[in-house]
Formats: sequence, C-alpha cells, structure tokens
Amino acid sequence: MWKSIPGQKFSAIQPTSQLLLRHALVKVLAVVCLMLIPILGLVPWSFSLSPGISAGSLASPQRLLTKSSSTGVSQEPLIVHYIWLHSKFRQPNPITFLDCVSVLSVMKNLKPDAILVHTNLPDFWPFDPCNHIISNWAGLELVPVQMIFVAGGKRIHLVEQAADLTKLKVLREYGGLVIDFDVYLINGTKFREVYYANPCVLTEEKAGKLNYGFIACQKGETGHLETGYVAEGISNRPEYQRRLEFLSSPERKHAWMDKIAHHSYLHNVHYNLDSIKGDNSSMGDLLQWIVYD
Ligand SMILES: *[C@@H]1O[C@H](CO)[C@@H](O)[C@H](O)[C@H]1NC(C)=O
Ligand SMILES: *[C@@H]1O[C@H](CO)[C@@H](O)[C@H](O)[C@H]1NC(C)=O
Repeated sequence: MWKSIPGQKFSAIQPTSQLLLRHALVKVLAVVCLMLIPILGLVPWSFSLSPGISAGSLASPQRLLTKSSSTGVSQEPLIVHYIWLHSKFRQPNPITFLDCVSVLSVMKNLKPDAILVHTNLPDFWPFDPCNHIISNWAGLELVPVQMIFVAGGKRIHLVEQAADLTKLKVLREYGGLVIDFDVYLINGTKFREVYYANPCVLTEEKAGKLNYGFIACQKGETGHLETGYVAEGISNRPEYQRRLEFLSSPERKHAWMDKIAHHSYLHNVHYNLDSIKGDNSSMGDLLQWIVYD
C-alpha cells in the first residue's frame, strides 16, 4: 500500500511542497493502518466464534442470528454438537451405520440450524459410510478442536474424559445440544419446548448421576448444569437397566415414541441397512422408523 497512492507517480523532480504533502499522507496512512490492525484482528475472530457464521449456513446467516418462535420471542439458533476425538495411539474408530442413524435422526427429527462435529482430525471426512442413508450434508461442519490432556493440573488418560471436557467447553462457547453417536433424536418438537423453557436440559443414567450422552444448555447458561431440567427416559432408569431388553426383546413393549430421545449404549459395528429390516426389537423398530419414515 505504500506504493499505491492513486493518480501519483514518483518522479525525480518534484516540488518540495508536494513531497512534504506526500510524506504527511504516508504518515497518516501508516497510523490508520496501525489502528486497523487490532480492529481487523478482532473482527474475523469474533465472527468465527459466532455460531451464526461458523455454523455452515453462510447463505442465510440472518436466519441463524435471530429466529422468531411462534410466540414472537426471538430465539437463539439451535446447534447440535457431536464430539469425535482420536487418541494418537489408537486406530480411529470409523463411523458406523448406527452412528449415521444418530446423525440422520437429528437431521430429520430436530432439524437444527447447524450440526457441528468437533474433532481433532478435521482434515478427514468420516461420514462416507453414511452415504446410503444421508445425501444432504448442508449445515453439518467439522470444527477443529485440540485434544485436552490436562485438567485441573491432572493428566487425563482416557479419550472419553477428554470428550466430556470438550462437551462442556463447546456448550460454554456455543450453547446447544451435545449428543453422542449412540443417542437417537425422536421428538424434536418436544425437545425444543423444554430447551427454550429451561437453561439446561439433562438426562440421568441413575438417580442423581448425569449422563453426558445428551446435554443441552442455552448459550451462557452452563452455570445451571446442576439444576437443569432432567428429561425422562433418555438414558435413565429404568431404561438403562432395560437396555438389553430394548435391543433384543421382540415384544416391542418400549414406548420410545413418547420420548425426546433414546440412548441405546449400543456400539455394534455389524448393524447395517439389511440387518435392521428383519429386527423385531424396539431397537430395530426405532432404527427403521428413523431411516424409512
Ligand atoms: C412430540 O411432542 C409434541 C409436544 O410435546 C407432541 O405434541 C407430539 O405429539 C409429539 N410427537 C409425537 C410423534 O409423538
Ligand atoms: C419377527 O417377527 C416375525 C413375525 O412376527 C417372526 O416371524 C420372526 O421370527 C421374528 N424375528 C425375530 C428375529 O424375532
């Protein structure tokens, strides 16, 4: 920019006054540039931290920033977060068919403004195995995160612990729903109702024990985690104890349709589109409903 003062060219013979003027101009420009550095430095970062912009719907940021509910009150956008971390010392788990059905359940039944997949392997697209059941990836984005190795001065060894800490970090930063790949979204309307009516929505696996497979907080409300609304039946009793029955009993006696979501605790790499077709269990029912309805 030093060379490009429009309409002027350096030449060997210039009147002194013009040179002085030029020097003054250059100085003013230099000062302006220096002042711009912090401003320019801040603007892109605050943009990239704003879920409205980084959420992948660049074509319609307005919709993401303010969304009117039926009550006319403007609501924060709803972002769903998955955490996908890899330990350097383990082979990365590939995305399985069941993981894909979880993502599909969120897309179909909740239709959030964005789905962010926070991963320490952001250069790798993990969702190729989902191609049979998901073709529209609009609004889903991989977001780089660093693996957390130390918390409160203590070394963390388990990737699951790092994932839990990342979940809290993400909730603090963006708000929204953090969901595990073994949780299936069932009634998005019901979820939105409780989400916008409470600072946080949680699920328990036992009385008094939160389960981190499904946690939601509105932006800035993570301080209310301990006192959040506890949604029934997602990962809690009696579902947790009856989970095997859910997976194998052909009697279809679980009223999963009444729930907001279901945490299956099932990580079976052998499930596929064919195997769920003949599955009479509640799990088979649920999966077929998500994929085919
Ligand atoms: C989902 O929840 C809403 C609100 O709680 C309810 O009116 C609706 O019937 C539910 N949908 C299904 C499919 O059960
Ligand atoms: C599923 O149900 C059908 C008919 O009700 C039955 O013929 C079949 O054996 C059942 N399959 C399993 C795996 O239970």
